[in-house]
Amino acid sequence: MNDKRSREDNLKLLLEEIKKHKKGQDDLIEVLHKTQELFGYIPQEAISLISKELEVYRSVIYGVITFYHFFTLQPPSRHTIKVCLGTACYVKGADRILSALKKELEVEVEQTTEDGLFKIQGARCLGACGLAPVMMVDEEVYGKLTEDKVREIIKEYRETEAVVK
Ligand code: FES
Repeated sequence: MNDKRSREDNLKLLLEEIKKHKKGQDDLIEVLHKTQELFGYIPQEAISLISKELEVYRSVIYGVITFYHFFTLQPPSRHTIKVCLGTACYVKGADRILSALKKELEVEVEQTTEDGLFKIQGARCLGACGLAPVMMVDEEVYGKLTEDKVREIIKEYRETEAVVK
């Protein structure tokens, strides 16, 4: 993905790519690969464009995207938060940690936040059961979490990102 190119530029490049293919679904996977390469994911505008130009129903395109898990409808995030939902963490309140995160970030699991900073994923045991409940932000492990601690961690990341900008 090229961050410097605008969304409009990427859509133009995608249109050029689509025009190299004949109408119908035969080359759909190839076009979707190109789309993901350009945007880093498959945005709604791209699906509309592909549907119109290749004359393929949107439902068919969604079917293909959701069938292959290397395609994603969510933009990439700067940080990935893995919340452990393994047994040890679960009995220590992992569900409360997950709810606090979803509320704080205003997203559901596997969705990227508006600002592109975070995505939450559920995970099996992260191998730090003694610290339950546990989450990881990228490669960093955070244990003995509480809802307040989660909000504090997110605040720190946001502050760091604000400084970096
Ligand atoms: S169950 Fe959560 S780290 Fe093991």
